[in-house]
Amino acid sequence: MTTKQHRLGTGFGAHSTADDVLAGIDLSGRTALVTGGYSGLGLETTRALTRAGAHVIVPARRPATAEEALRGVPRTEVRELDLADLESVRDFADRFLDTGRALDTVINGAGVMACPETRVGPGWEAHFATNHLGHFALVNRLRPAFAPAGARVVSVASSGHFLSDIRWHDPHFRDGYDRWLAYAQSKTANALFAVRLDALGAGSGLRAFAVHPGSILTPLQRHVPRDQQIAQGWITPDGTPVAGFKTPAQGAATAVWAATSPLLDRHGGAYCQDCDIAAPADTDDMLIGGVKPWAVDPDAASRLWELSAELTGLDSFGQGPGKAAV
Ligand SMILES: NC(=O)c1ccc[n+]([C@@H]2O[C@H](COP(=O)([O-])OP(=O)(O)OC[C@H]3O[C@@H](n4cnc5c(N)ncnc54)[C@H](OP(=O)(O)O)[C@@H]3O)[C@@H](O)[C@H]2O)c1
Repeated sequence: MTTKQHRLGTGFGAHSTADDVLAGIDLSGRTALVTGGYSGLGLETTRALTRAGAHVIVPARRPATAEEALRGVPRTEVRELDLADLESVRDFADRFLDTGRALDTVINGAGVMACPETRVGPGWEAHFATNHLGHFALVNRLRPAFAPAGARVVSVASSGHFLSDIRWHDPHFRDGYDRWLAYAQSKTANALFAVRLDALGAGSGLRAFAVHPGSILTPLQRHVPRDQQIAQGWITPDGTPVAGFKTPAQGAATAVWAATSPLLDRHGGAYCQDCDIAAPADTDDMLIGGVKPWAVDPDAASRLWELSAELTGLDSFGQGPGKAAV
């Protein structure tokens, strides 16, 4: 089924915060997992979910930093996980599955952007490996934990996907590295992952969505020097974000909305923005956003799933080559 990208008119918008979209929603007794849930948008997401009553597991590649960031936030637990290391993903998932607990929500928010060329695992490009393959492996490993009554997985993608489809000929940039194309490809992959995961999981009650959170100043920009941020039109010379940028609380809203809104019950696989389904992008302006066709193409989503299953040796939803390895 092709994902229908059309706005619903949800009553929320670009200025809504995570608390706004959770007002009146009681998440007591629910368990969420938020990768990157101790920094930037993820930290706001964790805080908002706990305020609504959820218990939040926060995987962290820097557990001590995560503990510090979450000090005083109730109903949180930090567990070690490096998404760039598939053995770490396996260990994290095995430990979680051993607890026998169910997961209601997974928000795949962790990510890196515009890093210098970095190779991980068997020489994989680090954006593709961390932002996409790590989350692909995590969700496949955690499949037995998804709550049978219905669970949701939210991929935090980006309008950065505007810059690149999946580079089928060279996903690991063996032919020359470009840090922006590397980020863009990984964000297209995040969106396509939601499309395919939803198609494979819907029959067993698992729904998946992708979101663009908006543009927000966070530690994500650590690899972009200040003069380049000014040149990109993100900040003014005095460091103030330009009009159109969101606060972290607004930036967390769409992921939290996609994780909880009943309005999305019949729209699995959708790419969302500003607390609604995103419309097709009719400009190349990433601040305006919308979704490009290659990020919601179901055939590309199947192809990416197969590639990811082959690379990771995991496929607990489909019939790919790695099924037996789970
Ligand atoms: N901020 C924006 O304007 C914007 C716009 C569009 C999309 N997004 C997306 O939103 C998501 C969150 O970004 P953010 O702005 O909140 O950035 P952030 O503050 O830098 O948070 C990213 C998180 O990902 C974690 N992470 C990175 N590599 C990891 C790894 N190998 N294993 C485990 N965790 C890892 C980081 O951990 P450490 O702190 O330990 O490094 C951090 O907790 C990202 O997926 C990003 O692409 C952001």
